Amino acid sequence: MNSKFSAAQKALDYVKDNTILGLGTGSTTEIFIQLLAERVNTFKKLIFTSTSNRTTSFASHLGLKITPFDEIENVDLTIDGADEVDNNLNGIKGGGGALLFEKIIAKNSKECIWIVDSNKLVESLGKFPLPIEVVPFAFKSLMRNFEEKKLNPKLRLSNGKPFITDSHNFIIDCSIGRIDNSLELELELKLITGVVEVGLFNNIADRVIVGYQDKVDILERK
Ligand code: 5RP
Repeated sequence: MNSKFSAAQKALDYVKDNTILGLGTGSTTEIFIQLLAERVNTFKKLIFTSTSNRTTSFASHLGLKITPFDEIENVDLTIDGADEVDNNLNGIKGGGGALLFEKIIAKNSKECIWIVDSNKLVESLGKFPLPIEVVPFAFKSLMRNFEEKKLNPKLRLSNGKPFITDSHNFIIDCSIGRIDNSLELELELKLITGVVEVGLFNNIADRVIVGYQDKVDILERK
């Protein structure tokens, strides 16, 4: 079985009736949304909110109604993917460019589950370029700042033009290499004026479902 599929399928076990679900962004989450849409009639009431325009459109096409996040008080459970996950269940997210809304919804969720294939597991974060969402007005000065910090910044492009996030910002991907203290780095980067959000997700996932070809592992936050 496809390892993303096995993780997505296992996540269905955690969906309870009469709850508000946060839907993440990315290919693994889309498998989950597809499976959920096939079973949605087996639930009496589920309310969905979304972390990106991409997810909103994907889910809506499958008949799932998305309620805007600002009309929701508390999300019960968010299911999302990740680009890297370490042994402490900290991660890098934002490969799909949705890190800001993903972090807002995750931080407003009672529970957060990541669904990943086993290739996403790492001993220490940093091999995957760290996405940093920035205000376009400041991007050149931030590129210089990140160069000076030896973060190897690269402006994310789409068809030769800057990639624009759902909040109309840019993303700078930083090839940092091994990150020894991800919390310290997150706080340091967030303090820089012009930085909107950092793709380091520390102390956010409660559980990570890791898909393999023939099994799933469930990692729980200690
Ligand atoms: C989007 C994300 C995704 O969750 C992450 O990129 C994983 O995506 P995929 O499931 O396609 O591997 O953070 O901003």
